[in-house]
Amino acid sequence: QAIYRKDYQQPDFFIDSVDLHFSLDEDVTLVHSRMTIRPRTENQKKPLILNGELLVLKSLKFNGHVLNATQYHVDKTHLTLPNVPAEAFELESIVEIKPQENTALTGLYQSSGNYCTQCEAEGFRRITYFLDRPDVMARYTTTIVADKSRYPVLLSNGNRVEYGELNDGRHWVKWADPFPKPSYLFALVAGNLYCHGGKFTTRSGREVRLEIWVEPQNHDQCEHALQSLQKAMRWDEERFGLEYDLDIYMIVAVGDFNMGAMENKGLNVFNAKFVLCRPDTATDDDYEGIEAVIAHEYFHNWTGNRVTCRDWFQLTLKEGLTVFRDQQFTEDMTSAAVKRIQDVRILRSAQFAEDQSPMAHPIRPESYIEMNNFYTVTVYNKGAEVIRLYQTLLGKDGFRRGMDLYFQRHDGQAVTCDDFRAAMADANQVDLTQFERWYDQAGTPVVEASGVYDATAKTYALTLRQQVPEHLQAWHIPVAVGLLGKEGQDLSLQLEETAPAKTTQVLELRELEQTFTFKNISELPIPSLLRHFSAPIKLNFSCQRQELAFLMAHDSDPFNRWEAGQQFAQQVIFDLLADWQAGKTLQLDALFSEAVLKILQDDKLDGSIKSLMLTLPTENFLGQQQAEVAVDGLFAVRQFVLKQLAEVHYAEWLAIYRANHQMPYSNSATAIACRRLKNTALHYICRLDTPETVNLAEKQFKQSDNMTDQQSALMCLVNTFSEERGQAIEYFYQQWRHNPLVLDKWFSVQATSYLPDTFDNVKALLQHQDFTLKNPNRARSLIAVFSQNQAQFHRADGLAYQLHADIVLQLNATNPQIASRFVSVFNHWRRFDANRQALMQAQLNRIIQHPNLSKDVYEVVSKSLNVK
Ligand code: ARG
Ligand code: ZN
Repeated sequence: QAIYRKDYQQPDFFIDSVDLHFSLDEDVTLVHSRMTIRPRTENQKKPLILNGELLVLKSLKFNGHVLNATQYHVDKTHLTLPNVPAEAFELESIVEIKPQENTALTGLYQSSGNYCTQCEAEGFRRITYFLDRPDVMARYTTTIVADKSRYPVLLSNGNRVEYGELNDGRHWVKWADPFPKPSYLFALVAGNLYCHGGKFTTRSGREVRLEIWVEPQNHDQCEHALQSLQKAMRWDEERFGLEYDLDIYMIVAVGDFNMGAMENKGLNVFNAKFVLCRPDTATDDDYEGIEAVIAHEYFHNWTGNRVTCRDWFQLTLKEGLTVFRDQQFTEDMTSAAVKRIQDVRILRSAQFAEDQSPMAHPIRPESYIEMNNFYTVTVYNKGAEVIRLYQTLLGKDGFRRGMDLYFQRHDGQAVTCDDFRAAMADANQVDLTQFERWYDQAGTPVVEASGVYDATAKTYALTLRQQVPEHLQAWHIPVAVGLLGKEGQDLSLQLEETAPAKTTQVLELRELEQTFTFKNISELPIPSLLRHFSAPIKLNFSCQRQELAFLMAHDSDPFNRWEAGQQFAQQVIFDLLADWQAGKTLQLDALFSEAVLKILQDDKLDGSIKSLMLTLPTENFLGQQQAEVAVDGLFAVRQFVLKQLAEVHYAEWLAIYRANHQMPYSNSATAIACRRLKNTALHYICRLDTPETVNLAEKQFKQSDNMTDQQSALMCLVNTFSEERGQAIEYFYQQWRHNPLVLDKWFSVQATSYLPDTFDNVKALLQHQDFTLKNPNRARSLIAVFSQNQAQFHRADGLAYQLHADIVLQLNATNPQIASRFVSVFNHWRRFDANRQALMQAQLNRIIQHPNLSKDVYEVVSKSLNVK
């Protein structure tokens, strides 16, 4: 049942316009559609095959004439008309649907009693019969009829063109979207919502009304979302010359949503988590997440909507590009270095892991069973890295030229990743043929680097060698390089006589092996490789601890400064692990401890970077570097290092805490940096678990006026064996039980605890009155979060696996998309020891034998077990 990229064919029919009419009702909702359809070629004799799922067809008319049951065929997934004329015609249908029973949250469904839609990728077919594919673009008009008191607000794409009242208590609104669009961008919202309004004037003078729609009780949590939208609109004009194209832009926050948000034309639907915030309910990371997701969906208006995807294999065309755009936006709005480090952390922990799993796929997949399974970190985040490569190779201006040409050529079209690459190549007159391999080949490239310094010739020769698996070909990899002198200064680098000298050179590795020679290097340099993480690869370069400590203290590239610290920590942890496994007493490396102290005492370092530098690599990331994940050893050793650092530098941690905790709350970068640093310090301090440290955390927990500090302190307390632990958990619950997004945090914090009773607590929390699998955020807050808690989830007794599989099977019946996300943790089963492998495999076998397995879960589990 798999679909292949190579099988793509143009549609046999196009739909030019569609007029929709919804009558929303608690019992059955009626959807009336009238479409103008046209065969793609003259004289073709193809049947018309429309997609449709869970629809009850009530009537079908062809050019105004009622069709009888012999003239068409309906099955579970399609409506087929075997004989249609070779010219344009009109098809009219009425179907019944039941949004109130829709638990999968795709198509038209209800959230807190309001109606909303999610059509990407293939949800529109659950609303009406249609050619539900992105290369069929139609003009939409939408009329919504509903009870006026329960559903005072009726929204759809485009402009509101007409409205009125019926004499039975219902009212109606008609919307018209002037831009042709694929069905996945359709949206409808109806309900009792509050509007937080604003405006934006585009640089060519268009007055745009901005509307953030939320449930009335959330009226005071919208301003940051509005401001984020305004910033994004301005930034896209300045950076890419892209302006908004309608007179209204609406964002609706809903409590039940499978993903982050959706870029429907003129009417974004958002997971409330990425809209609502207030200092006392949302953390600094939440604020940043909101700004980024609002920008992401806004940026889709050009990269996704104006220019869309020809087919779903091209998903990264819009997602990789739009993630890259939102990353650049955040780099500009906050700090480029901090944002880069955060993005690389996500890439390495989640995407590199996906590359190591049976679900590994190129950013442009070759096949899928269920498209929703391919909204992955590979398509999104590695896809964004691949877009970044163009910019690294072509420069910001060259990249912009490519973007301009892309829009010039393809505005209003449904296109492919090859079209994008061609625009980049043509606008810059470069050959990007080899570059296609980034789209074709799965897996993380590995590059070995080695350097030779010739003191007499004053040259430094750097050899880069890519390890290319047998069935693959060499990638085109930009490697940004700097060389540091004895004082930590950047040396001036010259590659050819004529080329300008720079402190960072971007080397283009295209062959299996290449050597780059720098001239006039008058001292033995310390190389700083892959600066700013210039490509999504693993770079191996053997570095002495002294050198890592040196880079950690001096590298002018903040990303690599952080990276050196991470590599240093990793070396230290793996050495300790060997000792732990040999039953030796552990002792912390003095040079590492000293390097950490230098960071602690560095007054010039930005607080956010500092806090990142003081954070050890995660167990998950460390496990990925091993042939077999040493679950218990990694946990024990990492805990040991944290505790040692806490004890040895106790005075410094305390000093940092005191120096930063008086800062009054604000949303500025400086204040955020202070909170990050302070809370990192608090976490170390609390490792000691003494009455004084517990007291410090408790004071912060009770006295803070913002969620960043309160949540941090709660997290510290949850990891102690104190009496205050239980009290804080109860206090937080009472304080926030009526705010779902904050209550999610309450579940999550408990699921992240590293104490040995975490599994039992999670089991108990599943029975909590406020826990439900029906709400994706709530389910994720406990289940997904716990499944990432490596040492606790991967208990040797397998009890957590069994519980997890039970939940996957429950969700399989109600919300297959979420079930499939959750089951994916088992993808990594082969990377564990024999005992854990057997336990996970047993659960996978249990799942795959389940009757009525959804396509979503089947695809992941069958790939995981390698069944054909
Ligand atoms: N296009 C949306 C975004 O990235 C994501 C929608 C994903 N939905 C899904 N059902 N897979 O902004
Ligand atoms: Zn997106």
